[in-house]
Amino acid sequence: MIETRLTKLVGIQYPIIQAGMGPYPVTSLCIAAANAGCLGLCSTFATTSRETNPIVFEDFCKQAHAETTDDDVTIFKKMFTRVFEETKESDGIFGANVMVSAEVKENAMKVMQAIRELREADPEMKRRFRVLVTTAGDPMPWAGFVKEQEMIWMHVFPGVRTAKRCKKAGVQVLIASGHEGGMHTAWQPVHSMTLLPDIIEKFSDENTLVCGTGGFCDGKSIAAAFAMGADGVQMGTRFLATEESDFCELWKKMVVDCQDGGTIIARGFVGPARWLRSDVSLQHAYNTAKDAPGSYVGVPDDFSQIPMDLLTFERHGVAATYKGDVEHAMAGAGECAQRITDLPKTADMVQKVMSDTEEILRNLAAKYVAD
Ligand SMILES: Cc1cc2nc3c(=O)[nH]c(=O)nc-3n(C[C@H](O)[C@H](O)[C@H](O)COP(=O)(O)O)c2cc1C
Repeated sequence: MIETRLTKLVGIQYPIIQAGMGPYPVTSLCIAAANAGCLGLCSTFATTSRETNPIVFEDFCKQAHAETTDDDVTIFKKMFTRVFEETKESDGIFGANVMVSAEVKENAMKVMQAIRELREADPEMKRRFRVLVTTAGDPMPWAGFVKEQEMIWMHVFPGVRTAKRCKKAGVQVLIASGHEGGMHTAWQPVHSMTLLPDIIEKFSDENTLVCGTGGFCDGKSIAAAFAMGADGVQMGTRFLATEESDFCELWKKMVVDCQDGGTIIARGFVGPARWLRSDVSLQHAYNTAKDAPGSYVGVPDDFSQIPMDLLTFERHGVAATYKGDVEHAMAGAGECAQRITDLPKTADMVQKVMSDTEEILRNLAAKYVAD
């Protein structure tokens, strides 16, 4: 058994966080992950964009057991309530992944309203809906909300500058996001092998835990995170490719079929994003190089100045994936897709990666340390 500061703080069996993967619903996945002893997270970012993302919106409502005519706060409340109901038996712990960057602040406010109303109405909901994971923005403005709600606060970030803001804001768990990770990535990216130990050395202390995300998908990579001193890991792509994951069949197939060098960076809605390599994503990357070159040279562009076609291209590609249209499909995933070859049940995958991690850690000293 592996016990870390993360398992103790959150009250989970395994030191694994299942990543929120907005704007795509991961409600069933969150339930499966929480029931498997991990921290399950719901996606909330842009999931209610009726006009721009109708296919995803309808799927999101279906997974939330909500009506498409419900208002946004009601949809979020129904989603969290479904997770709460379906994790009762296992006493599962869950949370919300909330993107707080300027473009999506209004959405974040609605999610926070749903969280507040649900948690205030039911002490049991308050106990198990325990974690808020903010991401892709400045954590500072949300400090008051987290304090008022007495939630465990985690923030996902890609570099030292935001880590300093996290520390100042009182974030309890820093999730260092390496460049290997799926979808949204940093303007000035650094891979986990460099970022994670750097953040641990600079920020880990008795009040602050550090987890890694980006590239973690099996016993070897998780054991490496522990060797670097991490308290746990967050996994996205590995959870995406599971039986219970809400992602459509073509998306999962594209992950499983991914070969080496199988991902590529191109402009996403909130900045550079990592996509599975295909003719379509390659075309998107050429367009990005022309119209949003900051994605490749580490200079954030002005969202309002880039051609809208660039962002529409992304939505069309994702819509094609949902429709099963192989020729026009474009889907996001992390570099570790090239190491993923199956679609296991979530609980089986979690048990396998944790038993592999344990075995590797037990054998390390005997294998490498001479008396
Ligand atoms: C399809 C997809 C969508 C994602 N959307 C979000 C999101 O809305 N918010 C967020 O914080 N991270 C998002 N991520 C990143 C994950 O939360 C996680 O940090 C990342 O997948 C970790 O890297 P890995 O894929 O190598 O495990 C997304 C990842 C994927 C694959």
